[in-house]
Amino acid sequence: MKQHPVTAARLTEPELDQIRTLIENRSAILFDSSRERFFSTRVREYLEEKGLASGSELMGVVRGSSIEYEALLERLLTQETSFFRYPAVYEALETKILPEVQERKFWETPRTLRIWSAGCSTGEEPYSIAITVSEALKFAEAWEIEVLATDISRRALRHAERGAYPKRSLQDVSLGQVENYFTATKHGFQVKPRIRRMISFVQMNLVESVYVGKIDCIFCMNVLMYFSEERRLAILRRFYDALEPGGYFLLGHAETLTNAPVKFEPVVLGDCRIYRKPGVVEARRAPALVEGAL
Ligand SMILES: C[S@@+](CC[C@H](N)C(=O)[O-])C[C@H]1O[C@@H](n2cnc3c(N)ncnc32)[C@H](O)[C@@H]1O
Repeated sequence: MKQHPVTAARLTEPELDQIRTLIENRSAILFDSSRERFFSTRVREYLEEKGLASGSELMGVVRGSSIEYEALLERLLTQETSFFRYPAVYEALETKILPEVQERKFWETPRTLRIWSAGCSTGEEPYSIAITVSEALKFAEAWEIEVLATDISRRALRHAERGAYPKRSLQDVSLGQVENYFTATKHGFQVKPRIRRMISFVQMNLVESVYVGKIDCIFCMNVLMYFSEERRLAILRRFYDALEPGGYFLLGHAETLTNAPVKFEPVVLGDCRIYRKPGVVEARRAPALVEGAL
C-alpha cells in the first residue's frame, strides 16, 4: 500500500479514498487523480490542526458533525480569483453581450438584466461584472439589474458580501474605477453600496437543481473541474435551460465545452471564446439609443 511519507501512520491511501468518497457522495465534488497531491496535503493539514490521530478518526468527526464536514470542505476548495480576471471576457460583456441584450429587450417592461456568477468565490468576479454593467449599459437606471452570485462556500460568500479587499487585489482595476466604485478604508478598499446593491449573494451547490429564473448571461469560470463528467454535463444542461434564447455562457480561459449535451454556438472575439444559446426570436429593432427614446 502506498503511504504518505510524513504521516505514514496517520493518513493512509484507503482513508484518503474514504474521505474522497464521502465528499463525492455528500457534495458531489470530485477530487480526482489530477488533484491527488493537493487533496492529501490539505486533508493532512486539517487533521494536524484538529489534533486528530488518524484518517479514521477524522472520518468519525466529519461524519458526526455537519459543521466539521463543512470546515473540511472549505479547506479543500480553491478560491483563487481576481478582479477582471480575464479582461477579454469583460470586453465581450461590454461590447457584444450587453449591446445585444439592450437591443433585444428594448421594448420590454420591466426591462430586466440578470447575470449569474456561478462559483463566485470571494466576490471579485460578480463585482467586476457589476462595474462593467454600470459603465456599459446605457440608461442603466431604466433597467432592473441583478447579478446573482452563488458559491458553495459560506466563508467565501461572507467575504464577498463585505466587499472589502486589500489594495493589492485591485491591481487590475483602473484608477478611475477605484475612484468611482470603491471607498478607501483602514485596511484597503470597500466596494461602494450602489455596486453591492446590484448583487444577490446566495449559497448554492451547483449540483442541486435550484430554480434561478431566466438569466441573460452565465459566468461559470474555473468551477466545472470540480465535477465528474456526468455531473458536469448535467450542470451544463441546467445552465442552458436557465439561459434566455440569445443568452451567453462564459467559461474560464483554459476550459472548453467538450461533449456538451447542448447546442451552444461558439462566438470568437479576439482571443476569447464565448458561447451563445441559439433560438432568439428576432426582436423588433430598437431605435437609436438616444435619451429622448426612453
Ligand atoms: C477557483 S474558484 C473560481 C472563482 C471565479 N469563478 C473565478 O474564475 O475567478 C472556484 C469556486 O467554485 C466554488 N465551488 C466549488 N464547487 C462548487 C459547487 N459544487 N457548487 C458551487 N460552487 C462551487 C468554490 O467554492 C470556489 O469559490
